[in-house]
Amino acid sequence: MGGGIAQVVAASGRHVSLFDAAPGAAEHAVETMRRSLEKLAAKGGPAPEGVLERITPVDDLVPAELMIEAVIESPAVKEEVFRRADAVLPAEAVLASNTSSIPITSLGAVTGRPERVIGMHFFNPVPVMALVEVVRGLDTSDETTAAVVGLARDLGKTPAEARDYPGFVSNRILMPFINEAAYALMQGVSDAQSIDAIAKLGFNHPIGPLALADLIGLDTCVAIMEVLQAGFGDPKFAPCPLLRQYVQAGRLGRKSGRGFYEYAS
Ligand code: CAA
Repeated sequence: MGGGIAQVVAASGRHVSLFDAAPGAAEHAVETMRRSLEKLAAKGGPAPEGVLERITPVDDLVPAELMIEAVIESPAVKEEVFRRADAVLPAEAVLASNTSSIPITSLGAVTGRPERVIGMHFFNPVPVMALVEVVRGLDTSDETTAAVVGLARDLGKTPAEARDYPGFVSNRILMPFINEAAYALMQGVSDAQSIDAIAKLGFNHPIGPLALADLIGLDTCVAIMEVLQAGFGDPKFAPCPLLRQYVQAGRLGRKSGRGFYEYAS
């Protein structure tokens, strides 16, 4: 998602430094962005080269007005990024996280500027999805919230604010839906195609819950259910055993080529 976020920020005319700890990942993301920008250019979007020239892959965090972090859904990894960003970025910079479920308050607490730490939760695929869920941690200031709401609008997105409770609004609603679809599959209520067809045609969803889980990543789905279960202390949020089993098998969805469905490389 980091590449998608970099793309929409650069398309708004801003300069982006793109950092990924894995060597070559930022360059790979630029190629994905190029394909996305070509699709958008065919529909009247900006010229791909003009957007890409504002994106610079870097090999470490660099000073900036804003960081948008989009690393894996691991509290320890995210906290480490926020500690380092707090040391590298200027004191007035805003530190935002694209987390789908990790408490913004806990990310703010590892920095010396919790009032400037906020959730900026984009949706996949970032270039086409209209929403940014803006999540206020306990200490996030009104000024920081207003700045990020304004930025989201400037990126052509619609911001919606949420408080920092487990899963915020989006995943508190979405993940139990996906989890229940996985239970329906595990219990043999129906096959994957039929479960997805029921959601697509019955509720007018663009894709079914199992195909959406593959898009999000099954490991991410399990991680979010664990956050909901721990945060609310309610067993109704326990991850479906079949979801866990797929993750154990390395079937993570689109990114690994196989999840509930198989994908060509
Ligand atoms: N960049 C640019 N354009 C893209 C694109 C991308 N990355 N991905 C898709 N598109 C464009 C396609 O070119 C196509 O354009 P045309 O209609 O002009 O041909 C259009 O979007 C539709 O794409 P497709 O025809 O390939 O397929 P589709 O009709 O199934 O749409 C989709 C794809 C937009 C992803 C649609 O399936 C969809 O909306 N799915 C649901 C997505 C969703 O719910 N996302 C949220 C996930 S939750 C999350 O991200 C956050 C979290 O915390 C877990």
